[in-house]
Amino acid sequence: MVTFLLNGEIVQSRVEPTDTLLDFLRDRMGLTGTKEGCNEGDCGACSVIVTGEDGVARAMNACILFMPQLQGRAVRTVEGIAGPTGDLHPVQQAMVDHHGSQCGFCTPGIITSLAAAHKNGETDHKDQLAGNLCRCTGYVPILRAAKAAEVAKAPTWMAEDVSAIDGLPSEFTLPESADELAAWYREHPDATLIGGATDVGLWVTKQLRDLNKVAFLGRCADLQQIELSESGIRIGAACTITQVLEAMREPHPFFAEMLRRYGSVQVRNAATIGGNIANGSPIGDSPPALIALGAELHLRKGGDRRSMPIEDFFIEYGQQDRAPGEFVEAVTIPRQPDTLRCYKISKRFDQDISAVCGCFNIVVDGGKVASARIAFGGMAGTPKRASHVEAALEGQPWAQATIDAAKAAFAQDFTPMNDMRASAQYRLAVAQGLMQRCFEEPQGVATNVLEVRA
Ligand SMILES: Cc1cc2nc3c(=O)[nH]c(=O)nc-3n(C[C@H](O)[C@H](O)[C@H](O)COP(=O)(O)OP(=O)(O)OC[C@H]3O[C@@H](n4cnc5c(N)ncnc54)[C@H](O)[C@@H]3O)c2cc1C
Ligand code: FES
Ligand code: FES
Repeated sequence: MVTFLLNGEIVQSRVEPTDTLLDFLRDRMGLTGTKEGCNEGDCGACSVIVTGEDGVARAMNACILFMPQLQGRAVRTVEGIAGPTGDLHPVQQAMVDHHGSQCGFCTPGIITSLAAAHKNGETDHKDQLAGNLCRCTGYVPILRAAKAAEVAKAPTWMAEDVSAIDGLPSEFTLPESADELAAWYREHPDATLIGGATDVGLWVTKQLRDLNKVAFLGRCADLQQIELSESGIRIGAACTITQVLEAMREPHPFFAEMLRRYGSVQVRNAATIGGNIANGSPIGDSPPALIALGAELHLRKGGDRRSMPIEDFFIEYGQQDRAPGEFVEAVTIPRQPDTLRCYKISKRFDQDISAVCGCFNIVVDGGKVASARIAFGGMAGTPKRASHVEAALEGQPWAQATIDAAKAAFAQDFTPMNDMRASAQYRLAVAQGLMQRCFEEPQGVATNVLEVRA
């Protein structure tokens, strides 16, 4: 049984743990405004608004949201965006006025994404719509509509109150704390943990896998905390990429900017930092930055805890240092003056997986390299430090000759792969190019994405 609000009404329904919200809406509720395009989180046709206990409205992809993830939350689909007496929502009216729709297939997803952004006062409309693909209208009229709707107030009917369903029991494993999760997972080490389901969702929708035992981390309040202290920033494993992005804006803006290009708003609102680390992907975006920042990973099994430098967690492709029944509890970034530069190279600027992701944390003191921590994604079977490159830099003058030596050392650190995203040769050349860029940018060479966007 799952209990949630759907367009303002309480819904209680029997579901399987890996039933998706998209199928539930269309097949069980007859709410066919929410469309299926890709069924893998890429196109945004299935976007809905999910509001949690914190009252914040978040656009999310219904195709890779499992029903238990909605327990105690409020969902608003395109059918619930207009007012009870038929008044159009300001973004609906603006889409009409500015001719923002042609075939209409993407339109419900665009309306829900824009309505969530409108409620939150977000005005970077290109960013907000990066996860909504439109094949026929083109984006200019849609962006005009988004801009026009900015001045209107969020309608009162968009308020959600989940207090009426707060605390209602669920038959699913939805631990409320890390302690509860630890005790359960130790007894069920063969279970699949689900953070945001932006990986696991695709195991179900694309690989048609049966997951016989699952636990959802979305209600573990203590795993969703970011704790700031003088010595470090401790990020709970169930924090979403959206949360991490916000937390990184001030201490490490390049990391934040890279996360802004992680998937789309919808993906970032679901994906967790714990999932992005635990899946061990060689092309995940957060591990290279965390390695370059010298982050410490915290693992837990039952009452036993251990910590390690995050790079030690990634043993080889598909293998991580994690025992059955053990989970990622948090990651801590040590406090440091910001010298981090992150570069994500992908075929598309937004909503694409990295071909190469390079993160450089280089401290230059008195014209010499005092320390260098450099890590790459997409260059090996795991996210990996460039230790030969680091050695070629450390203690040397911060000058072109040193950069040339460092570029030559990349071939000792990495034997990159050929795949659909890039050739090995391209990857190596890009990594060396990023080293050069990292040297030139601080001297005012205009290659900095942050400056271009400003
Ligand atoms: C459309 C789309 C775009 C994407 N774009 C990007 C991108 O730009 N950059 C990028 O890096 N990734 C991207 N991804 C990949 C995906 O977001 C990441 O792999 C993500 O980190 C997974 O996090 P999650 O919480 O959704 O993990 P889930 O799918 O919930 O879980 C992933 C794996 O981690 C395990 N797990 C989850 N939490 C824990 C924990 N606390 N302890 C132990 N194990 C755990 C799960 O059991 C599972 O094996 C994208 C995915 C989609 C669908
Ligand atoms: S159907 Fe494409 S994102 Fe869900
Ligand atoms: S209006 Fe046809 S896909 Fe956008």
